[in-house]
Amino acid sequence: MTDAASSKPDDAPQRRVFIKSYGCQMNAYDATRMADALATEGYAETSEMADADLVILNTCHIREKAAEKVYSELGRIRELKNEREEAGLGDLKVAVAGCVAQAEGEEIRRRAPVVDLVVGPQAYHRLPELLKRRGAVDTEFPAEDKFDHLPQPLRAKTQARGPSAFLTVQEGCDKFCTFCVVPYTRGAEVSRPAAKILGEARTLAAAGVREVMLLGQNVNAYHGEGPDGGVWPLARLMRAVAGIKGIERIRYATSHPRDMSDDLIALHRDLPQAMPYLHLPVQAGSDRVLKAMNRKHTAEDYLRIIDRVRAARPDIALTSDFIVGFPGETDADFEATMRLVREVRFAAAFSFKYSERPGTPAADRKNQVPEPVKTARLHALQALILDQQTAFNTATVGREVEVLFEKKGRHPGQIGGKSPYLQPVHVEGPASLIGHIARVKITGVSSNSLAGSLQEVESRTRDRLPDSSAA
Ligand code: 5AD
Ligand code: SF4
Repeated sequence: MTDAASSKPDDAPQRRVFIKSYGCQMNAYDATRMADALATEGYAETSEMADADLVILNTCHIREKAAEKVYSELGRIRELKNEREEAGLGDLKVAVAGCVAQAEGEEIRRRAPVVDLVVGPQAYHRLPELLKRRGAVDTEFPAEDKFDHLPQPLRAKTQARGPSAFLTVQEGCDKFCTFCVVPYTRGAEVSRPAAKILGEARTLAAAGVREVMLLGQNVNAYHGEGPDGGVWPLARLMRAVAGIKGIERIRYATSHPRDMSDDLIALHRDLPQAMPYLHLPVQAGSDRVLKAMNRKHTAEDYLRIIDRVRAARPDIALTSDFIVGFPGETDADFEATMRLVREVRFAAAFSFKYSERPGTPAADRKNQVPEPVKTARLHALQALILDQQTAFNTATVGREVEVLFEKKGRHPGQIGGKSPYLQPVHVEGPASLIGHIARVKITGVSSNSLAGSLQEVESRTRDRLPDSSAA
């Protein structure tokens, strides 16, 4: 890896990169790692596309709409590039990264010649080198581990990103749900060695991170090499992360029901840092549909897992993903999904209309559900989920919860953070509390956030606060 000094003379103007990420949290994490890699090449990040010398679209291929957004954005970028050239402001380089890059490769440059380079999610450690080759397309699954070739997150950048950080522990998927592109775009399931993850977590903690979200497309299938030479499951890894000074909260996403082990469930009871929050996609409530989706579990299996999770942690916030209008889904099948939702009572959930993805088994099925039927089902499901979300949020009113403050609020004097249940909470309070946990009494609910009043700054946090900020 070349360092900034060797690749850029001291008096050269600083180059700027604008990264726009679509899709999942792993893409957001990848964007931070790309920014870190480019920082060593002399690129500073900018939040304004118009100021950039390099624009990276970090794309998502999960649904057709997500993929199409890329091409409309590339149209706008083409205009910006032309304007810049006409104004004599120099060249604008355009890169497409992420899952559309992986899925479409060369095709992107054919459809959008404005694109200079295409780089898949497993090759972005090669970005600095690819930037030197106009027209490069790199969608390999290289033998080398990209994480070994990326610089550690920079302290100043980590601080600027706030006290809650993503950390990829596992990538890819071997489950092959029939609707899903992930096994093709992110490849086979690979777990990072525990020592590497712990090293990164320590670097984050030393820069002030208090909460880590361990990421993986199948995070609870994590089975990385442990420092002791054995294979560590996610529960073991979480216990080790919890031992790192400064890490007060641990979350993980996204989990598959098949991999909800007893040990992992027990952590929700035994490990104070394990937050009472679980995102466990079920996708549908009908066994016929679950089978056609190749989910490898029934609705009943899912409900029994939820029982076990709630037995360990009764107040846990449960969230899920749903697909409506999967090929062959009847009204009765959809009603089974509604029944499952009523039975579980979710704190929140994402729901989507089934979208045909090229190359996936379900896309070729003849029994596709008409668009208006999908729309009606989506509305019904979303209304039910919204009721449950409101009920969950309302139930926290009057309670005291710990909030990790992450940023200033929308109004002067306000600060905002997250409850253990991942609810956004805002209070009147000093900005010096940002990066710290404090007890908050919840006083009200708006559409999807809570209002509260500061109680006391938690004792373990207060010890580390400067005197002026001890509220
Ligand atoms: N169509 C609609 N939704 C999909 N998802 C994945 N693939 C598709 C598809 N082809 C949803 C699933 C998954 C979430 C990330 O996106 O619910 O859990
Ligand atoms: Fe989108 Fe899936 Fe790729 Fe994430 S892994 S960016 S959700 S296609």
